[in-house]
Amino acid sequence: MIRHYPWQYNDMKQVGIDYFNINEVEVYDKQMAKLRDVKQETKNIIKLLGIGCDDLVAEFGTGTGEFCLEVAKHCKQITGIDVSNRMLEYANEKIKLRGINNVDFVHGSFLTYRHSGTPVDFVITQLALHHLPDFWKQIALNRIYAILKEGGSLYLKDTVYSFDTNKYEHFFEQWISKTKSLAGEELSQDVTTAVREEFSTCDWIMEGLIKRAGFTIQHAEYEQGFLAQYVCKKTGGSIEPPSIIS
Ligand SMILES: C[S@@+](CC[C@H](N)C(=O)[O-])C[C@H]1O[C@@H](n2cnc3c(N)ncnc32)[C@H](O)[C@@H]1O
Repeated sequence: MIRHYPWQYNDMKQVGIDYFNINEVEVYDKQMAKLRDVKQETKNIIKLLGIGCDDLVAEFGTGTGEFCLEVAKHCKQITGIDVSNRMLEYANEKIKLRGINNVDFVHGSFLTYRHSGTPVDFVITQLALHHLPDFWKQIALNRIYAILKEGGSLYLKDTVYSFDTNKYEHFFEQWISKTKSLAGEELSQDVTTAVREEFSTCDWIMEGLIKRAGFTIQHAEYEQGFLAQYVCKKTGGSIEPPSIIS
């Protein structure tokens, strides 16, 4: 979808944490390492989905490209899409250093990326969909559905709230202070910004959005009250996909 309409949500303009800022980009991998083992997570996803050497993969919100660079060793071709040119420049430097030739990084977004050629076997998106308000998450999921092959899968990981919303003040305070003790002041500030300015939604809303896009949820997992992962299959059906394959 190219922005033709004045009412079109502009998801190329980032909300919340500023991933256009070079300081955020350069420290991103180091900061994440305090909270996640990205290499191990990637291995788990490859195994869970069964990504193989003939598969075409697309990743939205690719960030510094760590996921793409690892999956590239196991698939035919992977496209990493991100709104931040800074992130993509950084990811492209890594491609050169590691001598990888089956990764394309594309400047684009959930709502603007136009897929060309064969539909893909897998779409992955991690910690990025919450940058869109709920209605636009639905449009993004519809668009992901359209670029997947019949039988293809979406792996979605994001901040999704599954805690008791009557206790939201306590929950957010605990989350922020736990992040501070595990990973320091800067990351706890990022969580504060994300809660205030980004658009993480509730578990039941996310499940509804995924199903309404036409997917079957094969696996849903909720962690710590703020993280969710889903494996969603395109099983076909009567939903007319938007025409975004050129
Ligand atoms: C928290 S980072 C996640 C990076 C990586 N996926 C990971 O798991 O570490 C969010 C990324 O999503 C990108 N992003 C934000 N809004 C986006 C959108 N509408 N479409 C695509 N990427 C977006 C940001 O530029 C940033 O690189």
